[in-house]
Amino acid sequence: MKQKILVTRALFPDVVDRLRTHFDVETNDLGRVFTATELTERIADKAGLMVMGDPISRAMIAAAPALKAVCNMAVGYNNFDLAALNARGILATNTPDVLNETTADFGWALLMATARRVTEAEHYLRAGKWQAWQYDMLTGTDVFGSTLGIIGMGRIGQAVARRAQGFGMRVVYHNRSRVAPDIERALNAEWVEKDALLRQADHIVLVVPYAPASHHTIGAREIGLMKPTANLINIARGGIVDDAALIEALAAGRIAGAGLDVFEGEPQLNPGFLSLTNVVLAPHIASASVPTRRAMANLAADNLIAALGEGPRAGNPPN
Ligand code: DGY
Repeated sequence: MKQKILVTRALFPDVVDRLRTHFDVETNDLGRVFTATELTERIADKAGLMVMGDPISRAMIAAAPALKAVCNMAVGYNNFDLAALNARGILATNTPDVLNETTADFGWALLMATARRVTEAEHYLRAGKWQAWQYDMLTGTDVFGSTLGIIGMGRIGQAVARRAQGFGMRVVYHNRSRVAPDIERALNAEWVEKDALLRQADHIVLVVPYAPASHHTIGAREIGLMKPTANLINIARGGIVDDAALIEALAAGRIAGAGLDVFEGEPQLNPGFLSLTNVVLAPHIASASVPTRRAMANLAADNLIAALGEGPRAGNPPN
């Protein structure tokens, strides 16, 4: 008899078909995300889960006696209660590496759009406000030759740094531990204390994983250290930034702008963001190119197949 698995959200049909060759697969055909109660009910008899960021809590794990593997189609895995999974010996996996370049590209898309006010310019045009060329119309911040600050110098942070070389930027970074000297040299990146980075950088990109220790890495105090002309880009996780403090700072013009792909409490958004013109907003799409999403889906499926003893293990498990 095939082991039972649940795929929590809509997925490439061919990847679901591949899973069906190994497993008895339940999918989500509701056209929306499962509620916690629906998810708890559905995982009760499952051996494996393929999830897309859905919170997998201690209570859910306790209600799923057959559960052996939980595979996230994401590199981040702060949606898992790892302690509860570990206590039960349940394997948890993620999808690192395959999304590094695509996510770094999007960090740069937000950086450029924020620095050069691209979405604001488009809204201006669409609203019929363009009357004439004007010396100070929609003037922004330079990117070429400026200082890039990267907080979190893992694989995605390094991919962000590589791109800065083409823009003639000075790159400073902060990470709990310094990266190897040869990587620093190759990236032309200099480790600095977080506060020094906040003071020096013209553009700050956040690429740290979310954990209780990284909650509100950027709050009112940190924003207060930034240059008034600086931009803040978050492609990491909601909760890394104190959204209320950021909204207050953007509204007061204490920093120039922000480009955000992730939010506290997403997909709900603090309504304060919506009335601001100096913020570029995106719905958590940094890894959303077709090839990368396919690679993530296939890697997550490979992980599930391997974790449930149906084939070789791929990818790096977080536990
Ligand atoms: C990731 O892979 O962690 C992306 O943020 C998608 O959730």
